[in-house]
Amino acid sequence: MDIEKIISDVKEKFNIKYNEAQDLDSLEEVRVKFLGKNGKIKQLYGKMASIPDEQKPILGKELNKVKEEINNKLQEKKDKLAAEKKKRQLEAERIDVTLPGHKIKKGSQHPLSIVTSELEEIFIAMGFKIAVGPEVEDEYYNFKALNIPEDHPARDLQDTLYLDDLFLLRTHTSPVQVRTMENTSPPIKIIAPGRVYRADELDASHSPVFHQLEGLVVDENITFGDLKGTIQIMVEQIFGQNHSVRFRPSYFPFTEPSAEVDVSCIVCGGEGCSLCSYTGWLEIMGSGLVHPRVLKMSGINPQEYSGFAFGMGIDRITLLKYGIDDIRLLQENDRRFLQQFK
Ligand code: PHE
Repeated sequence: MDIEKIISDVKEKFNIKYNEAQDLDSLEEVRVKFLGKNGKIKQLYGKMASIPDEQKPILGKELNKVKEEINNKLQEKKDKLAAEKKKRQLEAERIDVTLPGHKIKKGSQHPLSIVTSELEEIFIAMGFKIAVGPEVEDEYYNFKALNIPEDHPARDLQDTLYLDDLFLLRTHTSPVQVRTMENTSPPIKIIAPGRVYRADELDASHSPVFHQLEGLVVDENITFGDLKGTIQIMVEQIFGQNHSVRFRPSYFPFTEPSAEVDVSCIVCGGEGCSLCSYTGWLEIMGSGLVHPRVLKMSGINPQEYSGFAFGMGIDRITLLKYGIDDIRLLQENDRRFLQQFK
């Protein structure tokens, strides 16, 4: 057996494959091919049994040498390839820490949320607490307990969205007055902002869903003067000092006396323009002293206590405050519109 030839053959074959291998995976393939369990070197060791005794130590020694040589060369190239790979990776993932960061776009609050929070803060500063009630109501809370008679037009299918014989979507936030009086004893001083529903077609000034803010104060000796003072402060704070307020006699079944509140026109200041239909005034809420019958139905003694209540449209106040001429803009969520309220 020509040991020298065998050894130089395997070296030559190895070198060819070794030089071909240009990445870690193919280098590993070369290692398996030569040094693996069924690799070329193992196979040559296998020849040991079939050669003359005197050749055995020579072949053993040569194979050990070759094995070590191959091992060293593989390790060397592996280190080199690994280092190159790492370098390429670092290069590719290089970060320029001096580049300016990505700008995060800040969202803005919806104008209705802005106005609701402002109103809440104005009333909280005057000592009011916030109350909530369900949007799905029944006839008792929405109508009956508010002294609204059976045959009142508001109860009509045309005006109210009924869910079934018993339940309806509240048409105003006034049922929260009743719910509050039922489970709190005076003094009561609450506001109740929230969504209300009416069977209206959507157009520039009507929407089947809109928002109201209810107010209720019940205590000993509450007078119309308390109502006027409270509303005066609210109007000054939300629209600015230079607006006058007027109370115009009106009618609501749940208040007596009742008044509608007007604010001097925010466009013309009272001169008369198309926004105020040339009256100089804009109506912003209904109000009055709580009807004794309403107090009584909710378990409050009208002999002992009196109260005032008001209800305003938050959407309407928002439109007036920002000079928006179409209520639909408050619902469409067009970002070009919303982004203007920062
Ligand atoms: N609930 C009335 C409405 O929706 C407003 C109102 C509230 C009037 C409280 C008087 C007192 O029109």
